[in-house]
Amino acid sequence: MNSQRSIGWGVVATGNIAHSVTGDLQLLENSRVAAVSSRERARAEAFAKEFGIDQAYDDVDALIDDDAVDVVYVATPHAQHSAIVRSALEAGKAVLCEKSFTTTLADTEKLVALARERGVFCMEAMWTRFNPLIVKVRELVADGRIGEVRSVSAELGMIGPDDPHHRLWDPALGGGALLDVGVYPVAFAQMLLGTPADVRVTGSLTARGVDAEAGLMLSWPGGARAHLEASLVSPVPGGAVILGTEGRIEIPPRFHSPALIRYVHTPARGVEEPELHDADREGRGYVPMLRAVAQAVREGRTECAQMPLSDTIDVMRILDEALRSLGVQYPDPAPMS
Ligand SMILES: NC(=O)c1ccc[n+]([C@@H]2O[C@H](COP(=O)([O-])OP(=O)(O)OC[C@H]3O[C@@H](n4cnc5c(N)ncnc54)[C@H](OP(=O)(O)O)[C@@H]3O)[C@@H](O)[C@H]2O)c1
Repeated sequence: MNSQRSIGWGVVATGNIAHSVTGDLQLLENSRVAAVSSRERARAEAFAKEFGIDQAYDDVDALIDDDAVDVVYVATPHAQHSAIVRSALEAGKAVLCEKSFTTTLADTEKLVALARERGVFCMEAMWTRFNPLIVKVRELVADGRIGEVRSVSAELGMIGPDDPHHRLWDPALGGGALLDVGVYPVAFAQMLLGTPADVRVTGSLTARGVDAEAGLMLSWPGGARAHLEASLVSPVPGGAVILGTEGRIEIPPRFHSPALIRYVHTPARGVEEPELHDADREGRGYVPMLRAVAQAVREGRTECAQMPLSDTIDVMRILDEALRSLGVQYPDPAPMS
């Protein structure tokens, strides 16, 4: 296996995150953006011109079939992920799909089963896990530097857009706080404590029936717990704290893409010993994840250890349960036109 082989990326959609991630793909060594697809040819062509991409398609299947595309990066709204990921996996193409992976646990489980059956690389784009400081957090916890983790608190949110037609408010596009911002605190708690034994949620819905805000309390056998918050109606600062029996880790806002963490060792008797860690951000912060995906694909691996498909299932199980408890029901997505 050529460890330097150039990887060709195909970007599906031309919205916000497609722009940010494509910019970061251009910073990545031994990778090139080979194609982009949009529902509208003119948008695909404008995006291709902006980023110097060779192929612009108005048909996602044409992008998937393009031999120059090794990895299909799915950047559509949540409800439109599932059908595209399925098509790519069936064609044997590696997939990096934006969070949240799908709108239901059932869809996630079907796609994971397909990826495993076909032996094709597939990952949810949970970029937080590749941030060097989150990698450091995991090391500190794994090395026992805060003792046993007893509690995690994490929050993310913002005041959502004024536009009532925006995807965040639209049930047909998988709108709502949990799938958009709640996935980050949930994936963070799951990373630290694994599959919870119990999920409690409280929140409020919009008139169109998506969750405007949600507070979650997850618990694990033995009493460890996570207090999580997601909102599209409050300017949530976005910090996180991990409390252990011998110390804590504080991640100032916004915790899902930190530039700084504070580790505090708290001996039973004695003074606190705070330690600051910082790290430069590469591009807009997606580069470490994109590099890991490219390397996994080069090496013929089907998953990244930082965000395995089993974690995507666990995270989606928590979100699914919370959405059901709140009474959110997504309609079946319309086919891409
Ligand atoms: N990782 C991160 O930091 C991050 C940040 C923001 C969002 N996201 C995730 O990325 C995904 C997209 O979010 P975004 O903020 O980029 O959304 P966005 O700006 O609305 O862009 C979504 C794009 O998807 C395409 N699309 C396909 N089917 C669509 C449909 N039925 N309705 C509307 N658009 C459709 C459109 O591109 P065409 O018109 O060209 O087809 C649209 O521009 C979501 O899963 C979101 O959670 C991740």
